[in-house]
Amino acid sequence: MLDDLHALAPLDALRAILGPAGLLTDPADLAPALSDWRGLYRGEAMALLRPADTAQVSACVALCAKHGIAIIPQGGNTSMVGGATPETRPNQVVLSLARMNRIREMDPLDMTMTAEAGVVLTRAQEAAAEHGCLFPLSLGAEGSAMIGGLLSTNAGGNTTVRYGNARELMLGLEVVLPDGGVVHGLRRLRKDNTGYALRHLFVGAEGTLGIITAAVLRLFPAVQESVTAFCAVPDEDAALALFRRFRAADEGAVRAFEYMSGPGVELVFATIEGAVRPLAEPAPHYVLLDLTASRQGAGLRGLAESVLAEALEAGEVTDAALAESEAQRAALWRLREEHPEAQKRAGGNVKNDVSVPVSRVPEMIRRCSAALRELIPGSRPMPFGHMGDGNIHMNLVQPEGMDPAEFLARAHDIMDCVNAIVRELGGSFSAEHGVGRLKTDMMEEWRGGAELAAMRAIKAALDPQGIMNPGKVLPPG
Ligand code: FAD
Ligand code: MLT
Ligand code: ZN
Repeated sequence: MLDDLHALAPLDALRAILGPAGLLTDPADLAPALSDWRGLYRGEAMALLRPADTAQVSACVALCAKHGIAIIPQGGNTSMVGGATPETRPNQVVLSLARMNRIREMDPLDMTMTAEAGVVLTRAQEAAAEHGCLFPLSLGAEGSAMIGGLLSTNAGGNTTVRYGNARELMLGLEVVLPDGGVVHGLRRLRKDNTGYALRHLFVGAEGTLGIITAAVLRLFPAVQESVTAFCAVPDEDAALALFRRFRAADEGAVRAFEYMSGPGVELVFATIEGAVRPLAEPAPHYVLLDLTASRQGAGLRGLAESVLAEALEAGEVTDAALAESEAQRAALWRLREEHPEAQKRAGGNVKNDVSVPVSRVPEMIRRCSAALRELIPGSRPMPFGHMGDGNIHMNLVQPEGMDPAEFLARAHDIMDCVNAIVRELGGSFSAEHGVGRLKTDMMEEWRGGAELAAMRAIKAALDPQGIMNPGKVLPPG
């Protein structure tokens, strides 16, 4: 079969593998796959491949390898770093996992779910709930992002503080290697120390080492009780003090602890229809937190009230609203989750997805905000994000009235300004979104020497032709 296919022109051979529904070449069909959510990049591809199963992925990859065709794996295309967008060069295809969207197995006893790469995160969450379980990964793009993309970026999101990143939620993987070979690693073992843990190589590799086609995911007991609080806090130190207070009261209960700046929340009110103000007065900083428990009668409401009363007394909190219903909870979370959209609507914005040790978060926010205001007078720092795990989106919105293109031309100066401070504080320039295409030029400085050499050696060993997602993660050379 493969020999017959190899005699055909590449696109004809790919069509023979995938059938007419699995290969699209019409520019209108390709267009959404050739640009990114942020609108930073636009690329080219000969075709959009939409395989229906692992065998088809394997056959396509083998064929592309034979013809030296580059492959850009794509899930929900919500990458913040241009990771799923092809470059502008010939001889490449985008391979979408969207049709591989089956949940192959659920095991509430082993507490595992085996899901294909194209399962959208909200569907994975629902499937877990249908079996009385919880799949805890949660982030703003959960209605589009897919299991393969989430694992390939080692996504974090709102629940890392309690459940870890996507890597910690993965037990086994099925992967198609750059020569078309298949790693059948869908094991659901809690302990599996048999040689190199290959599965972990592909998590966070951003599609540069192979294509994840399915994964065994960890499940947890379903949530039976929860409390959501939206708190006004006077400064960044108070936000951190509040985190410590909740952690000390019941570390296991904190599901999410998110920080937002006052100007960021005001921008949400200004740009997002239906955003409701939960507190009487605007504040300079806010915290949104969730406490959850897997048993009823855990007393989370009482816990939240007593911790908040102590925090009010200590001046760490100036006002707070507790959600009284699921609708109120959703409304409070909306104020947090609409931050990316609000910042997009405000014109040019530059994202700095950085992390520092949790204890350094207040200093990082303060120093970066001051440095950014000095770098571009009138610019608006709007940091927000996952304070409980040290990952803040130290984002900068353009000055009002400035030409967005003029502002975006300073993107690298802005990132350098933030990164210099983050580096002094022992942090990372790439916390949860990955390196993608946006940050390859930072790799040499941050991961140069033996670390980058080892990454290049792994890439060369698995993908000697360099056909998997070229131009991403590793800098040229
Ligand atoms: P894509 O964007 O399609 O791809 C991402 C990368 O993975 C690319 O390099 C691609 O080539 C590769 N890839 C995709 N599928 C596969 C596969 N099956 N095998 C191999 N490689 C593959 N991220 C966070 O971590 N935390 C957040 O809180 C968060 N919030 C977000 C909020 C919004 C509004 C948006 C738009 C994005 C947010 N993101 C966040 C970023 C993004 O959602 C994540 O990076 C997510 O993991 C990407 O999943 P995806 O399916 O869209 O992957
Ligand atoms: C989020 O947490 O909402 C995104 O990761 C951050 C961003 O859009 O910068
Ligand atoms: Zn985030």
